[in-house]
Amino acid sequence: MKLFIDSGNLKEIEGLVPLGIIDGITTNPTLLAKEGGDYRGLLKKICQIVKGPTSAEVVSTDADGMIREGRELAALDEHIVVKVPFTKAGVMACKTLAAEGKRVNVTLIFSATQALLAAKVGAAYVSPFVGRLDDIATSGMNLVSEIVDIFENYQFSTEVLVASVRHPIHVVEAARMGADVCTCPASVIESMFKHPLTDIGLERFLKDWEKAGFK
Ligand code: E4P
Repeated sequence: MKLFIDSGNLKEIEGLVPLGIIDGITTNPTLLAKEGGDYRGLLKKICQIVKGPTSAEVVSTDADGMIREGRELAALDEHIVVKVPFTKAGVMACKTLAAEGKRVNVTLIFSATQALLAAKVGAAYVSPFVGRLDDIATSGMNLVSEIVDIFENYQFSTEVLVASVRHPIHVVEAARMGADVCTCPASVIESMFKHPLTDIGLERFLKDWEKAGFK
């Protein structure tokens, strides 16, 4: 399973990419607004650091506007994936942009039927938002499982990108279900490294080695 960072923050991205575990980045208008400044410049820098798929979202709500913005975003860097929200306009924009050879991530997916429609118009990725479904007492991971099954049945090349991840258990479940990508906030990726028994074990090894007094 590919692991993406869900962030527009250069410090977070630069801290994790050198480890070799990061395959791409997702941003959204909220994340880029948090960073402020020149968002186009920021997206270009992110692409240069990650050298992998970097989702950048349009903010137009009509298909023509989304297509225009999508073309502009895609021209920033070869790694840009145009992100469009799942609406009728988003589906139309996805169809046009995908036909031009641009990769499109259809976002704000909350049902399997939405994912199916996005796949039919050539989305490179669909982004089911698991955390936001959990927030309203609906299983986000059940949705991922349904989408994975449907895409397998018909051999869609659209990748299932698990988004709105809140904790490492979402990551484990996504991997067990065979999701293609999981995009996580940096804090969730940091927590994937931690286990108290690893810390205790290492401390004991180092103490025992010191006690032996090897030269
Ligand atoms: C994914 O592409 C979205 O940017 C993101 O995962 C949304 O997560 P949130 O529900 O934590 O805002």
